[in-house]
Amino acid sequence: MAGWQKVADLDALAPGALSDVVVGQELVLLVRDAAGTVRAFQGLCPHEYARLAEGTLEEGDGGARIRCSRHLARFDLADGVCRRGWVLPPLRRYAVEVADGAVLLPDPLVALA
Ligand code: FES
Repeated sequence: MAGWQKVADLDALAPGALSDVVVGQELVLLVRDAAGTVRAFQGLCPHEYARLAEGTLEEGDGGARIRCSRHLARFDLADGVCRRGWVLPPLRRYAVEVADGAVLLPDPLVALA
């Protein structure tokens, strides 16, 4: 039966910082934005598989973007779509729940459609 699994403590995610966790076989990027919302994406860039947690979260026209550190592709924080730098597939996204100070991801881990 599907459920949720704890992958991080909310306090460990600084607003505006990128971090990643291994969930099963998957590296997952966790992002807590300035408003406190936590989002989860695939942890490796679809270009040449750089760890996105080594990138930065930048504010720009139209909202925040995850910037890959290797070749500077930028992915919209709202939907994971690559908006600048490259033509790449969107990042896989995962549902996130926050409860009792814990960040939860689906168990088993299944990407949003
Ligand atoms: S590896 Fe991310 S833009 Fe190239």
